[in-house]
Amino acid sequence: MICTFSYAQANLNRVDNIDRKWWKEAVVYQIYPRSFKDSNDDGIGDLKGIISKLDYIKSLGVDVVWLNPIYSSPNDDNGYDVSDYRNIMKDFGTMADFNELLKGMHERGIKLVMDLVVNHSSDEHEWFKQSRSSRDNPYREYYHWWNAEKGKPPYRYSLFDVNHDAWRYDSLTNAYYLHYFSRKQPDLNWENPKLRHEVYDIMKFWADKGIDGFRLDAFQFAAKDTTFPAFPNGFEKNFTQYYGMQGNLHGYLQEMNREVLSKYKVMSVAEGAGNNFEDAHNLVDAGRDELNIAYAFDGVGIATRKGYSLLHFKNVFSRWDSAFVDKGWLSIFLSNHDQARLVSRFGNDSPKFRAVSAKMLMTFLMTMRGTPFYYNGDELGMTNAGFYKIEDYRDVQTLNEYQRQKNLGANLNEYLQQISFESRDNGRTPFQWNNSAGAGFTSGTPWIMVNPNYKTINAEAQEKDNESPLNYFRHIVKLRKDNLVLVYGKYTLLDKQNPDTYSYTRELNGKTLLILLNFKSKSSVTNTGIDLKKAKLLIDNYSHPANNGLLMPYEAAVYEVK
Ligand code: NOJ
Repeated sequence: MICTFSYAQANLNRVDNIDRKWWKEAVVYQIYPRSFKDSNDDGIGDLKGIISKLDYIKSLGVDVVWLNPIYSSPNDDNGYDVSDYRNIMKDFGTMADFNELLKGMHERGIKLVMDLVVNHSSDEHEWFKQSRSSRDNPYREYYHWWNAEKGKPPYRYSLFDVNHDAWRYDSLTNAYYLHYFSRKQPDLNWENPKLRHEVYDIMKFWADKGIDGFRLDAFQFAAKDTTFPAFPNGFEKNFTQYYGMQGNLHGYLQEMNREVLSKYKVMSVAEGAGNNFEDAHNLVDAGRDELNIAYAFDGVGIATRKGYSLLHFKNVFSRWDSAFVDKGWLSIFLSNHDQARLVSRFGNDSPKFRAVSAKMLMTFLMTMRGTPFYYNGDELGMTNAGFYKIEDYRDVQTLNEYQRQKNLGANLNEYLQQISFESRDNGRTPFQWNNSAGAGFTSGTPWIMVNPNYKTINAEAQEKDNESPLNYFRHIVKLRKDNLVLVYGKYTLLDKQNPDTYSYTRELNGKTLLILLNFKSKSSVTNTGIDLKKAKLLIDNYSHPANNGLLMPYEAAVYEVK
């Protein structure tokens, strides 16, 4: 049930005491270009494909699109290995396509945030080719090298390497180079001012084109102690603690802000927010002049194959909220291209509960404080891929880890089970546009298999169904856009110890909204102490309102409390 009406105007004049910013009030929609829409039937999504879907994106009511990397790349890590930062990946089209895309977005009032991947480049970038060519090449200091005559470098962990070894020996100059991700993603040397200014020039190139923001990929790892001291044993298990927020990271961000960010009307979001609230605040608090939005992983990491505790979930989100009451700003998200699907991890992807639990999760994400980041396909309640053999996977991390497990003689069936729940490829299968072969994504052979459930789960079918997740998404986004209380309002957790339901209020300038969410597949009662008879229902994912706190399985309801 949806009751739509607009508070926007009424609210506007009453929030003068609040530090309003467009990027706080925005809803961000994340597009994984490789899997969104293929325009030339080569099986790979592209910019022209996105252009053809701009009206769809507009219809969602979102204000900002974050595009995963579209720069030239050999695609070891699907574009997170950039070989030319000023050009478009051939698979995705041309710079003319990009210009048209940006224009088409701006004409529709949609802003564009680009991924900035500068903790590392591709090993096929000209800088790296020069850098490895000789020890005295001017580009040598753009990367981290360890000359082999000094012996083996102190161990560093690599997230994607087959041996989890971040040092790769290169016989050409008898030295090791550092790569926290795959061997084809050498880490850039941020301690070198020349490299930093190259990056600022790249940022200006895109900002001058008129883009509206940057998402800084893996940037918390960019600064390093270049003496590479040995780490204590066991450190590799806590990557963020030993590799994140090191050295002069904040100095580099302040410099980036001075040189670029402050000169344009752009937003900036950090991927990762360090080890604690203080680290996150240090990245984004006003007055520090670094970034705008922290993107902390504590929430998204909660779901496991065995499920998760809602009490823990509530605790994590409530603690982060209270740590950011006075200053700083967070993103709110539960999925992205590095995670398996939202409904499969945090909801229930069985046919009975898929749609309703997807809507409940949308309600959560659109009613919390912080800027919601919503991943493409989740508005349809797309599910995990259902891959069961390694040949179906494409992701470098998944494939290299498989190889590692094999080398170790581990139980590969167990690993296959694990990745069927958690591989990043689960979130990367083609967007399901309709029920034709290729799901309306492509008429060619898709680069990764289409989820067979596209016949029933697709945008075309959901357009026609008023009760679909897609149409609910449009309503809940509108509800957020119409109610500044959902952006800035004070958050108060109610019925704290309830293990099944998540209830809270949001309050601003005398207006209170009450949000009731049942995270379980059984009916559950929530005791909020608020008399619902005196409240007005604004939206509910069932066709009847929640009755005095009794919530149907995965029910979500938002009330205005009188
Ligand atoms: C984080 C990105 O989100 C992920 O997709 C990528 O593999 C790594 N950074 C390396 O760039």
